[in-house]
Amino acid sequence: MDLGIAGRKAIVCASSRGLGYACAKALAEAGCEVVINGRNPEQLAAAAAELRKATGAKIIPVTADVASPDGQKALFDACSKPDILVNNNAGPPPRDFRDLDRQKMIDGVIANMIVAVELIQKAIDPMIAKKFGRIVNITSGSVKMPLAGLDLSSGARAGLTAFLAGVARSVAAANVTINFVLPGVFATDRLRSYIETTAKKKGLSADAALAERVATVPAKRVGQPDEFGATCAFLCSAQAGYITGQNILIDGGAFPGAF
Ligand SMILES: NC(=O)c1ccc[n+]([C@@H]2O[C@H](COP(=O)([O-])OP(=O)(O)OC[C@H]3O[C@@H](n4cnc5c(N)ncnc54)[C@H](OP(=O)(O)O)[C@@H]3O)[C@@H](O)[C@H]2O)c1
Repeated sequence: MDLGIAGRKAIVCASSRGLGYACAKALAEAGCEVVINGRNPEQLAAAAAELRKATGAKIIPVTADVASPDGQKALFDACSKPDILVNNNAGPPPRDFRDLDRQKMIDGVIANMIVAVELIQKAIDPMIAKKFGRIVNITSGSVKMPLAGLDLSSGARAGLTAFLAGVARSVAAANVTINFVLPGVFATDRLRSYIETTAKKKGLSADAALAERVATVPAKRVGQPDEFGATCAFLCSAQAGYITGQNILIDGGAFPGAF
């Protein structure tokens, strides 16, 4: 399917690995010019080389902490008027909510709510002016189905979802869409570290902890990042202009609701 976005410029935050990388790859395959980002320069350079080889697209790596004002400036210096913005950032480590002091809670809200809003503030007016914009926020299935120990992540991301629900309606007439993609269990480094923490807490091997987690998923498997990237790219397509303010779960059926 031709997504109708060849030549569009995209910024994909936190994209040297994992789900962000998969979104960058799918957009590059669709013919976009893509700014990719991460803090580790070697990992980022390797990701850029892989993407160029796999897709032939123009890939601009920006080594930066997306949560810092300087990092955000670096991203927009590389692409001042993106047509597509994919918001992503690391989530806070799993912790009992009793162990969260005020600073940790503030840091979590900054990482998983405020940073995305700041980036949208920078991107949105040029999108409105050119009557095309696609914003996808990577949040988490835990926004709809909480996971013990990820309370801060779930709360901050639910805050982002509610914040942007109104913003999405305010820009829809300009063909600017804002959607959310909610991953369940995906095979990335983040999943490995979550599984290792859970395994230690339960006195299980990592394999046993993963099997226990996968058993809760009706599809009985983990998701593959490419499946996630393809959904993100579709939400960024020309054809998806009538989809906005939506929370798209990609979780192998884990969320048990009918709606
Ligand atoms: N995988 C899952 O099953 C799952 C499920 C639910 C929710 N999620 C959420 O989805 C998001 C992506 O997860 P993932 O599994 O793809 O994670 P991942 O495999 O750990 O990859 C994270 C990526 O983000 C970059 N990054 C992290 N912090 C950054 C920062 N401050 N500035 C710039 N880049 C940064 C990392 O590169 P550097 O380390 O070099 O910066 C890396 O490229 C996270 O918010 C995660 O909590 C994932």
